[in-house]
Amino acid sequence: MCGIIGYLGQKEAYPVLLAGLERLEYRGYDSAGICTAHHGTLHLHKKKGRVENLKSITLPGTIGIAHTRWSTHGSPADKNAHPFLDQSKQFSIVHNGIIENYLELKEELRKEGVAFTSDTDSEVIVHLLAKYYHGNLQEAVLNTVKRLMGAYAFCVLKSGNQEIIAARNGSPLVVGLNGGENFIASDVSALIEHTRRVIYVDDFRLVKVTRQGVELSDFQGRPLPPSIKEVNWNIEQAQKQGYKHFMLKEIFEQPQVVEDSLRLNLSLRKDFSRLLIVACGTASYAGLVGKYLIEKIAKIPVAVEIASEFRYKEPLFSRDDLILAISQSGETADTLAAVRLARQQGAKTLGMINVVDSTIAREVDDIIYTRAGLEIGVASTKAFIAQLVTLYKIAYALAGQEFSGEGLVEKVQQTLSLNSQLKDLAKKYFAYQNFLYIGRNINYPLALEGALKLKEISYIHAEAYPAGELKHGPLALVSEETPTLAICPQDSVYEKTFSNIQEVKARNGKVIAVATQGDERIKGISDDVIYLPSVKEVFYPLLAAIPLQLFAYHIADVKGCDIDRPRNLAKAVTVE
Ligand code: M6R
Repeated sequence: MCGIIGYLGQKEAYPVLLAGLERLEYRGYDSAGICTAHHGTLHLHKKKGRVENLKSITLPGTIGIAHTRWSTHGSPADKNAHPFLDQSKQFSIVHNGIIENYLELKEELRKEGVAFTSDTDSEVIVHLLAKYYHGNLQEAVLNTVKRLMGAYAFCVLKSGNQEIIAARNGSPLVVGLNGGENFIASDVSALIEHTRRVIYVDDFRLVKVTRQGVELSDFQGRPLPPSIKEVNWNIEQAQKQGYKHFMLKEIFEQPQVVEDSLRLNLSLRKDFSRLLIVACGTASYAGLVGKYLIEKIAKIPVAVEIASEFRYKEPLFSRDDLILAISQSGETADTLAAVRLARQQGAKTLGMINVVDSTIAREVDDIIYTRAGLEIGVASTKAFIAQLVTLYKIAYALAGQEFSGEGLVEKVQQTLSLNSQLKDLAKKYFAYQNFLYIGRNINYPLALEGALKLKEISYIHAEAYPAGELKHGPLALVSEETPTLAICPQDSVYEKTFSNIQEVKARNGKVIAVATQGDERIKGISDDVIYLPSVKEVFYPLLAAIPLQLFAYHIADVKGCDIDRPRNLAKAVTVE
C-alpha cells in the first residue's frame, strides 16, 4: 500500500526521488520521506502529509531511497514516516508491507538496548540490519529477512556504500535500468519517466542495485539471472494531459479502452464445469456483471466470491472449477491469497489482470491481460470498462458466438457527451448526505459500482440494492432527504424497475433515472433523467457505468474533495 523508490546515478537523487514519489503517491499519502547518502553521511527529511511537503528543501547526494506511506501500524505522524535510521545513523530503510512478528522482534531489540522512535512495524528492520551487519550489507539483509514474518518489499541504504539492497516477499518490487543510473521501486509508474527497461522482482529475492547494474539472488544468497523486460507504457499515460484529475482523464479514455479491448484475441478452453470469480471492490462488481453475462449467454454456472471472504471461509470448489481472479493492479493481497489457495488445492486459475507481470499475473496458470493501460486514479474507471468488455468477449467465446463489438465504441463516445449534464446534476445534488442506488438483473452490479464510486471519492453515504429488494427494508430509508439513482434502461425488466421507481416517488423520494434515449414515460415520474443511447440489453452496464462515474466525479469536485487521492484509501491494496 505504501510506495518505495530508490535511485543511484549521476544526477542529484533528491529531485529524482521526489518526482518518483509523486507518481507513487496514489499508493498512500499519509506521510513521505527521503534519505540520501553523501560523503559518508545519511541525510534525512520526512514529514506527515503529502509528498509536496518535502519540496521546501533538498538533500545532497546522487544515491537515495524514499517512501510515501499508507498507515497500518502507527498514526500518520512525522515520527512514523519512513525512511527509518538505526541508532548509529549508518543504515536507512523504507518498507512496504506488514511485519507480522514486529512486537516480538521489538521486545528482543529493546532488551538489547535499542530505543525505538516510532510506533511502526517497519522500524524493526533497520535495527535488525544494524545488529547483523559485520562488514557485508548483503549478508546483513539475508540474516534480517530470516527473522521477518509477513509481507514486505524494502530498500536499504548504508552510509558510504554505493549500492541499494532490496528484498521482496509478498509486496511488489521492480528494478529500472538506464545505463549509468538505476532504480528500484514499488511499481513501474515511478520509473517510466526515465526508462522502460525493467526487471520484475519475484518473492524471496534479494537485489543489489549499483550504478553498473543489478545482481539478483535468492534468500540463501545463490545468484540468479535477471530477466529484463520492456514496458509498453509511456510517460504520457502517467500525466494528466490537461485534465483536472487523472480520474476524469481516465473516464474520457474509455472509448479507446473499449476499442483496444475489443481487439483482444481470446483462445479459451471450455474444459471446466463452473467458473468461480474471485476479486475485490470494483473488480468484484465487474465479476458480478460477468456472472449475469456468462450464465445468460454461455449457459455456464458462475459464482462470484469476494476474495477476502473466499480465503477464510473454507470455500468449496473442485478441480472441475476454473478460478478466475479479476484485478486491475494484480497486487491485491486478498485476491492473490485466493489464487494461491485455489492452486494449493489443485484448481486451475485464470487471471484477468491489467498490470503486466504483476504478482497475480505471474502466479496464475493462464492470463488474460485487460487493455486499460496505466490507471492512476484511486477510483477505478477505465479498468472496470476493460474488465466488462473482456467479460463480454469471454461470454461470447464460451458460447461459440461471434461478438463484433456492436458499435460500442461510438456509443461509449456518445455517452461521454453527458458530461455537462452530470456536472449540472452534481451542483443540484452534492449536498445530500445519503443516496440509494438501484438496478435489476445485469444492472444491479452497476448500482453497486455507482454507489462505491460516490462513497470513495465524495465521502457521501450510498447504498446499492437490487431494485426488487427495496420493499424488504431499504424503502424505510426513502424520504425527500435521500435521493435514489435508478438504473432503468428499456430492457426485459424495465416494467419491474419502473414500478420500483414509482414506489420511491410515492414516498416523496427524489429519483434520478438512468434510462434509454427516447423514453418519455420515465421522464414523467423522475426528477431527472440521464439518457443512454439504445443498445442490446446486455450492453447497458457498459454505458451506464459512464454517467455513474461522472456523477460521483462532479459531486466530489463540487465538494472540493481530493479526487485522485481519496482519504484513507490507496490504489493497490497489498495488505490484508
Ligand atoms: O487492483 P484491484 O482491481 O485488485 O483492486 C480491487 C479494489 O481494491 C479496487 O477496485 C477498489 O475497490 C477501487 N478503489 C474502486 O474504485
